[in-house]
Amino acid sequence: MTDFPLQRPRRLRRTPSLRRQVTETRLHPSMFVLPVFVVPGTGVRNEIPSMPGTYQLSVDELIPLAQEAESVGVGGMIFFGIPETKDEQGTSAWDPQGPVPRAVTAVKEHAPGLVAWADVCLCEYTSHGHCGVLKGDVVDNDATLPLLARAALAYASAGADVIAPSDMMDGRVAVIRGTLDDAGFGDIAICSYSVKYSSAFYGPFRDAANSAPAFGDRRTHQMDPPNVREARREVELDVREGADMVMVKPAGPYLDVIREVRNIVDLPVAAYQVSGEFSMVKAAAERGWIDGDRVMMESLTGIARAGADIILTYFAIDAARALRASQ
Ligand code: PBG
Repeated sequence: MTDFPLQRPRRLRRTPSLRRQVTETRLHPSMFVLPVFVVPGTGVRNEIPSMPGTYQLSVDELIPLAQEAESVGVGGMIFFGIPETKDEQGTSAWDPQGPVPRAVTAVKEHAPGLVAWADVCLCEYTSHGHCGVLKGDVVDNDATLPLLARAALAYASAGADVIAPSDMMDGRVAVIRGTLDDAGFGDIAICSYSVKYSSAFYGPFRDAANSAPAFGDRRTHQMDPPNVREARREVELDVREGADMVMVKPAGPYLDVIREVRNIVDLPVAAYQVSGEFSMVKAAAERGWIDGDRVMMESLTGIARAGADIILTYFAIDAARALRASQ
């Protein structure tokens, strides 16, 4: 078969307007969710050294950021709390005056156009940095479930729109759903971090959230990076337990997993471009080794092309601005 010269794919790449018209993947600011690290106090603004341009913020400092995000069309914000005190059980996780409930309430008031997501995990709140309570030196799955549900309830009571459990305990979606329903929060959504790998790409986050485990690692609850059939199983279980959306995390190194999940569910699929993915782009761009803005957009486009409807990314505001500028 002699396709050429009849077939010339270059014809549709000839001008920017042609390319724009035939594009198969369109990013939109409303897809983006900006992760934020919330600390106690007022006037606190600590830049995270390994994540340039990203800060630990007190609630008062977070309000202008939320308003900026809203004004450029970013879809939402997800909050991670760094509490005043930590203990074995992570009790600060469900303190109604804790950083996440206060952030949620403030953002609902000052930037109501944003979807307010609350991450649910105990690792930022436990003295040992593990995602649940310990029995000996292992995380006790079943004893952790009611504690996660208490945290979820505190965040829903503060006004969170989406509860996002990232702990990777088995059965937590069902327990959180039941607790929310019993308390009259039947209309509050759950986005489960269904497919969360035990990843070295979380390194900078653990500095930002002071949540590195004091000993051991998270390999007995987070997924093993080589596995994808297991990802299907996690998603199927969470859907049966009542998840409204499912997440894959990290994003860039797991594009095949995002596609696999997209193919098996009709629910919205979220993907989390995690701290290490962000920091690598920033570091290489600082050295002048890559064009940081273009790599930012290309990495986000790849995640959307793989099948993500929602992208959690530290680039949310910059990417939303770039999209507006290119319109
Ligand atoms: C757990 C949690 C983590 C991240 C999001 N939620 C860290 C972990 O599992 O150790 C990582 C996000 C990132 O790296 O940007 N609360």
